[in-house]
Amino acid sequence: MINKITVMGLGFVGLTTALGFSEKGYKVYGYDINCEKVEKIKNGILPFYEKSMEEILKKNINNNFLLVDSLKEAVENSKFIFFCVGTPCGEGGKAELTYLINAIKETLKYVKKGQYKILIIKSTVPPSTTKNRVKPFIEECGFIVGEDVGLANNPEFLREGCAWDDFINPDRIVIGQSDENTGRYIEEIYKCFNAPIYKVSLNTGEFVKYLSNTLLSTMISFSNEMSMIACEVGDINIKEAFKLLHIDKRWFGEPAKMSTYVYPGCGFGGYCLPKDTQAIYSLSKGNGFEAKILRSVLDVNNDIKYYLVNKVLKEVKSSEYIGILGLSFKPNSDDIRETPAKFFIEELIKRGHYNIIAYDPLAIDNFKKSYDLPIKYAKDLEEIMNKAENIIILTAWNEFKNISNIEDKKIFDLRYML
Ligand SMILES: NC(=O)c1ccc[n+]([C@@H]2O[C@H](COP(=O)([O-])OP(=O)(O)OC[C@H]3O[C@@H](n4cnc5c(N)ncnc54)[C@H](O)[C@@H]3O)[C@@H](O)[C@H]2O)c1
Repeated sequence: MINKITVMGLGFVGLTTALGFSEKGYKVYGYDINCEKVEKIKNGILPFYEKSMEEILKKNINNNFLLVDSLKEAVENSKFIFFCVGTPCGEGGKAELTYLINAIKETLKYVKKGQYKILIIKSTVPPSTTKNRVKPFIEECGFIVGEDVGLANNPEFLREGCAWDDFINPDRIVIGQSDENTGRYIEEIYKCFNAPIYKVSLNTGEFVKYLSNTLLSTMISFSNEMSMIACEVGDINIKEAFKLLHIDKRWFGEPAKMSTYVYPGCGFGGYCLPKDTQAIYSLSKGNGFEAKILRSVLDVNNDIKYYLVNKVLKEVKSSEYIGILGLSFKPNSDDIRETPAKFFIEELIKRGHYNIIAYDPLAIDNFKKSYDLPIKYAKDLEEIMNKAENIIILTAWNEFKNISNIEDKKIFDLRYML
């Protein structure tokens, strides 16, 4: 039983998952409520187009991959049950979870306590669903998660069109686990995929999938918004412009590769991004086209700073010293134009925090000269660490990487660098 798997829902994700594990040598049961689909699969016909996968179906059906009409047989014989049912857009834009809840309910009918079956949600579900919706539901059905059954989510990153290759050669396997024991079981069945496995909290597992999809949708809408701006301005070859954008070294190379931009922090600054985003937004508005994404980009850049100042001030007393680490807008630069540090320091002072000391490996002189702020400056990292009870990292300088072990200080790593 330990190597047997049931896959509930045989759509793009479910059938690919079922065949992927079959191909790796596991015994897999497939179950779907759509009889027409099941009939096709039984006859070796793939119910959707995916290059080369029909061959794999033909090879595995009735060998490692068994289609079952009775869920009882499948669940009773399997250790792992993957839920790959649809989660379409429901009322008010919320994810419709009925299919998932029904599939779990059906499954639990055949689960006996003491067998420690592992229930794995592969469907895409909004962060907190496994923890706040599925876990309580399982417990209402009389099972204790972590004792009677294991519960996890395992987001799928395959792309239709190259689903097989994406599944069989994944770049990462993410397991959102309810407990470590469950995570270890799932890790074991994925070892043969030779991909890095990351075991994270239930909410993180779900969040990663949305992080990925919303980034993709944002990039597409952003590109479309820019194409509309280009149309309004006129005489711009949109295709050529995007091709030239794609040549940018940042897509591929070190040190400032694209992933350093798709990373949270305390807002973009410097000479170019704030003024250029503002300028193209204003140009577009002047031409009668409201660039909503760019407006939001500017708004979020403002909001994130207030959000973080509020977060810090909830934990800091006004009598305590605040140490600011980093004054330049980014590391390896002494440019302090539009730097988040200026905003943070001014805002802290405005809210009654006068005990501020700042340090930057390169930008102190520029900062002092440009902004006449009533704060102290430290000559080195040691001085600021000795003086301040609270440390706020505003620039991700390499030099700051080693400060994480200091216990008697509150450290606000606003660049997520430690
Ligand atoms: N399609 C993709 O590229 C992709 C990629 C990653 C993740 N996802 C996510 O994976 C999930 C499944 O997506 P899909 O494209 O495979 O959907 P799909 O609609 O192709 O397949 C879902 C299948 O589940 C079956 N089903 C519904 N209720 C069932 C039940 N109680 N028992 C058994 N089977 C049941 C349906 O009949 C259907 O065949 C969704 O949450 C989706 O967001 C999809």
